[in-house]
Amino acid sequence: MSEDLKKEINRRRTFAIISHPDAGKTTLTEKFLLFGGAINTAGSVKGKANSKYAVSDWMDIEKERGISVTSSVLQFEYDDFCINILDTPGHQDFSEDTYRTLMAADSAVMVIDASKGVEAQTIKLFKVCVMRHIPIFTFINKMDRDARDSFELMSDIEEVLGIDTCPINWPIGSGKEFKGIYDRKAKTVRTFTAVSTGGAKKAEEKDYDIDSDEIKEIVGEEGLEKLAEEIELLDEAGNEFDIEKVRQGELSPVFFGSALNTFGVEIFLKYFLEMATTPLARRAGDELIDPVESPFSAFVFKIQANMNKAHRDRIAFLRVCSGKFDANKDVYHVQSDRKFKLSQPQSIMAEERKVISEAYAGDVIGVFDPGVFSIGDTIAAPGTKFEYEGIPTFAPEHFCRLIHQNSMKRKQFIKGITQIAQEGAIQIFEEYTAGMSEIIVGVVGVLQFDVLKHRLENEYGCEVRLEALPYQFIRWIKDPSTDPTKLKRMNNVKAVKDMKGNPLLLFVNDWMIKMVLEDNDGLELMEFRKN
Ligand code: G4P
Repeated sequence: MSEDLKKEINRRRTFAIISHPDAGKTTLTEKFLLFGGAINTAGSVKGKANSKYAVSDWMDIEKERGISVTSSVLQFEYDDFCINILDTPGHQDFSEDTYRTLMAADSAVMVIDASKGVEAQTIKLFKVCVMRHIPIFTFINKMDRDARDSFELMSDIEEVLGIDTCPINWPIGSGKEFKGIYDRKAKTVRTFTAVSTGGAKKAEEKDYDIDSDEIKEIVGEEGLEKLAEEIELLDEAGNEFDIEKVRQGELSPVFFGSALNTFGVEIFLKYFLEMATTPLARRAGDELIDPVESPFSAFVFKIQANMNKAHRDRIAFLRVCSGKFDANKDVYHVQSDRKFKLSQPQSIMAEERKVISEAYAGDVIGVFDPGVFSIGDTIAAPGTKFEYEGIPTFAPEHFCRLIHQNSMKRKQFIKGITQIAQEGAIQIFEEYTAGMSEIIVGVVGVLQFDVLKHRLENEYGCEVRLEALPYQFIRWIKDPSTDPTKLKRMNNVKAVKDMKGNPLLLFVNDWMIKMVLEDNDGLELMEFRKN
């Protein structure tokens, strides 16, 4: 292993940003990119209806709605680090891809709106981060607006999410009274003056010693007294900083700021880069594959179909887990036991696709799928014997019965839904009683229903009708040999099979889950299914 390879890998940081829509994820991402010099103007990241810079509006349906539902990957250089941000769709209609993206990240940044606290979508995404034990950093945004009490926000995070918090800095006031942040380690106060620079709002930031006369003047006697009390309380009653706990995902370092005004963003980035890990080793059965010591390996975490309608192509997104990817060399696809060169590997930044010749552990690349890849597959240097652990199947929350209108095209219909399900946009289920004549479709975000209908009609020529079903909760039965039709208390509960024949139950509410568990001794249900 060369020193250069080690250096390239160790300077990489790969993280996902999670938040509830509107908390400021896009704005924060954009500010990171501005710092890294990857973009020059604000507004380049977000795909608004009238913007020509949509991150990824490859599908008509997305264009029609003016939203961007697909995740993309942004890479930039900052201070000798090579940073990969995995963007997760911020719209409410997010999909299973959003969850899968988190499987490719080494840490997560959670953006919280200071006036709202922890919101629904953050909770869902947070659960996936917890399952992976990756570090979670919190950025409490919009401090330039009236915010909830900072202690209250800390307990909200701790109670709702069940993670300990450790504020690295602490705000002085909020809204119009927002004076700056106190850096608990440096014991300095960073003040901000908003400066408008055309498109991108940038702040002038200045550090002062906490005991300085300037600070007395800026913050005032009363403000300083309050700050001293709050810091004392934090020091005495708060959690101690422990990098090991951070790395295990048990303690979240917390930062305050305002992404829109670029307040506290650079300091957040600085501490984040200090605390976040280099690309993590990844489990393959009993082995842990070291990112530096092992030759090239990667896994597929997302497949995106028909990015170019004329070609019906599929792009597979690979997270490089170890070594160096060299576009001129053959790779080995473990699942199909085949060797080939990956065609036109590219980095995927917003709409831009750059063909690349190399990538390192920590990076994400898009490659044309020769038609053999499935989500979770391992691609590695020839001679590789291991297989990365699969990506779990996440619980869909919306269900429809899919009715095919034209029985003549049955083969096309089956092909269409099977292919779309393989890409992971939808999950299909078969009822125990009805056979393949009726299919139940489950999705994580309701927009996927429209996408499904649109694609079946446009790509496969199948007219379909969707009938909404009342189920909201799905649970896999842990023991796959269980016959769910024999379970007790099954009124209003639907028993179905997934594509692999695993038994599942669909419930209208979570109270029903408790009832079925109570009445069926020994029954174990799972929210994710580990593949
Ligand atoms: P998202 O990706 O998490 O969905 O959030 P996004 O960054 O799009 O931010 C949502 C809205 O909140 C935007 O306003 C954005 O300008 C605003 N915002 C983000 N950070 C801050 C902040 O620190 N302070 C304040 N006051 N506002 C912030 P919008 O009006 O919906 O969109 P736009 O027209 O400004 O783009």
